[in-house]
Amino acid sequence: MRHFLTVEQFTNEEFMMLVKRASDFKHGRDTFRSDRTVVNMFFENSTRTKMSFEMAEHKIGMHQMNFDVTTSSVNKGESLYDSVLTMQAIGADVVVIRHPDANYPDQLVNLDVQVVNAGSGTGQHPSQSLLDIMTIYEEFGDFRGLKVAIIGDILYSRVAVSNMMMLNQLGAEVIFAGPDQYFDKRDEKYGEWMSVDDAVKTADVVMMLRVQLERHPNGDKPFEKDEYHRLYGLTRERYLTMKDTAIIMHPAPVNRDVEIADELVESEKSRIVQQMSNGVYARIAILEWVLKGRYDELSSQKW
Ligand code: CP
Repeated sequence: MRHFLTVEQFTNEEFMMLVKRASDFKHGRDTFRSDRTVVNMFFENSTRTKMSFEMAEHKIGMHQMNFDVTTSSVNKGESLYDSVLTMQAIGADVVVIRHPDANYPDQLVNLDVQVVNAGSGTGQHPSQSLLDIMTIYEEFGDFRGLKVAIIGDILYSRVAVSNMMMLNQLGAEVIFAGPDQYFDKRDEKYGEWMSVDDAVKTADVVMMLRVQLERHPNGDKPFEKDEYHRLYGLTRERYLTMKDTAIIMHPAPVNRDVEIADELVESEKSRIVQQMSNGVYARIAILEWVLKGRYDELSSQKW
């Protein structure tokens, strides 16, 4: 089965092929259609990922169903495995899943339904990484030697995990900055640690991360908003030290005036809105990739 689960399942060539397909769809150079059935199963909150998968599914003509966790038999104790097994049994070809368990995909890989990881706890967020890599590629056209600063709550960020791995693999130079307690030494192999001031000055891409209070143990909140912004945020003052050609990214949702000044979210250097738009095309490319894998395996059937 061809599942879309992590970034490290891809070679550079395979991942960049997905970027190219996403770009083809964005610029109208190609289209893809499918009348297969997809079920979106979101066990955690989402705006961008859920809605851009839905938009992608609409654009390519898929039959789409949304699994409503709040009224489902999950509330009677049904497991994720049994829920997905049920989706397979009723005819789903693809399930798009966001779930708080970082390792949830492991239990699903032998099912006869294609799994797309839309965020696995603090594990991975590979579809976000695809749209982020697409956005950086649109700007710079290459990754070798590119300095990408990932700044903020790295410890609890699945976006950071997927991006540090993929950027490293593609030859970019990853820089980390933020509060010491939001960095895990296990990530040192992917990049260098710097002060926020130096990271912002040095980077070609300044990727700010949301402070993920919902993932902090006991709701731990070691900083007040203003203090965090002053010490670790992208302030107006730090913005003025960025390279002329540098860009700002953020996976969103944004805590305005915490990790980034309100006025900078839609500033000239910001690519945050572009990231959201690219998300639709990246997700069409992902759906095409998993469906073509399924189609190859079901070679006697037509789309
Ligand atoms: N970037 C991202 O995953 O946003 P959502 O949580 O709104 O999907």
